[in-house]
Amino acid sequence: MAHVQITLAQISMKFSLTDGTLYDLHTPCLVVSMKDAKRIARQLNAAPIFSRAVQDFKDTSDALITVNLGAGVARLLVVGGADEALDADAYRKLAAGAASALLKLPIKQAVVALTGTRVKSKRATWKLRTLMLAISRSAYRYGKHKSKPADPPSLTAVRFHVPERKGLSSVVKQGNALDAGLKLTRDLGNEPPNVCNPTYLLREARKLGRHPAVKVSNLNEKKMAAANMGAFLAVSQGSDTPGHMIVIQYQGANKSDAPVAMVGKGITFDTGGISLKPPAAMDEMKFDMCGAAAVLGATKAVIEAGLKINLVTIVAAAENMPSGGATRPGDIVTSASGKTIEILNTDAEGRLVLCDALTHAQTFNPRAIIDVATLTGAVIVALGSHASAIYANDDQLADDLLKAGDETGDKAWQMPLWDEYQGALRSNFADVANVGGRAAGSVTAACFLSRFVEGVNWSHMDIAGSAFASGASKGATGRPVPLLFSYLCAQTLNARA
Ligand code: BES
Ligand code: MN
Ligand code: ZN
Repeated sequence: MAHVQITLAQISMKFSLTDGTLYDLHTPCLVVSMKDAKRIARQLNAAPIFSRAVQDFKDTSDALITVNLGAGVARLLVVGGADEALDADAYRKLAAGAASALLKLPIKQAVVALTGTRVKSKRATWKLRTLMLAISRSAYRYGKHKSKPADPPSLTAVRFHVPERKGLSSVVKQGNALDAGLKLTRDLGNEPPNVCNPTYLLREARKLGRHPAVKVSNLNEKKMAAANMGAFLAVSQGSDTPGHMIVIQYQGANKSDAPVAMVGKGITFDTGGISLKPPAAMDEMKFDMCGAAAVLGATKAVIEAGLKINLVTIVAAAENMPSGGATRPGDIVTSASGKTIEILNTDAEGRLVLCDALTHAQTFNPRAIIDVATLTGAVIVALGSHASAIYANDDQLADDLLKAGDETGDKAWQMPLWDEYQGALRSNFADVANVGGRAAGSVTAACFLSRFVEGVNWSHMDIAGSAFASGASKGATGRPVPLLFSYLCAQTLNARA
């Protein structure tokens, strides 16, 4: 294969803390509210320059202005509305605006002093996390396959000014870890499907295995056949690239502590198979591995943060292609659970690879299983791109995930898993059909998966709407990595104690 592997310069954002007096700082840019900006300008004997520069500035949210002082603090980036009490969404918007302005400046480092803004029922830790996530998001670039990539942003280090550093260093460590995890998830999603195939995902997973607390193993197609994973193999059999069931085990807690299991849909390209998709926007089906990318990114973040938790991450990696050897509509296969499936539509392939991965996940006796998948177009009809759909057989698990979504602004919404919907999956010839009708397509897909989990807390996230954007800003969003990482942080030994 004559294809050149281009190595990406690993420029990642470095977050840290600082305290002390603001006007004493040496920095190319200090990001502050209007009140603080005024005070600092006065203290630096730059009040006249400052008031002239801001004379037309309205101190309201959405407004930003940079003022050059040429002192130890070379510039102020004044953020409008930051002296008012805000609600969580307004603070998130303010953080996003400040981050995007900051990333446009030709500077390598900056100090952000915005944790003083009052946000209803939120503490400094939440503000710090929100600022870090906003900067991570703004700093991301993907230019790997352009012959002349645009210049990367110059900003690589941000210090957060806080009155008291105590207790915040683990939060900053987690912010750096999340930054690295998000970058991995978005890079994997954006990678073209001729590069990011199942074997590429296996290689990326093996990189995580370099850490001493991590073990990576893989079921190849031969091993999957021995484990009777007929549902998974029905998908990968049409492709010349073999499928993999990748398993990453991270031990951050006692061996005896039951792990959380995450399962990701890793269809590196979904043509639909013999139930071929129409050509319009089919390129976007390279994003059909975003569930896998999300669980890999969340796993990377957990490893880098050194969370005290045990984790099992399973990636169901395959390509859904039409060929002489591909599965036909009407084929009946036996899944690893023993249940037989009538494949009425080969384009409903995600649930086929996932049901065998869910069966495998249960062999690790997890506390909870969370699967993440770009599973249905129907979820886009239901929720659009703003929320990921959450299904769960346990209310506590659903609530924990929804809360993690609220905390991070990586929003999710719970959908029903009622028995009434199961009837749509009836088959005349096998235990279950792989599709229901057109109605409630995301729900019936979740119902299909629910048949393969027994006696374990399980949640399914349908992220077909949230994981990537279409149109002018086409690309992977990194969602729902912030939600997953926040959930996992809350599940650590410390947080549970
Ligand atoms: N990968 C698609 C779902 C999808 C659609 C993801 C749009 C992202 C954007 C999935 O494999 C699929 O094809 N689902 C079918 C299910 C149908 C055949 C029951 C769908 O949604 O049409
Ligand atoms: Mn499909
Ligand atoms: Zn798919």
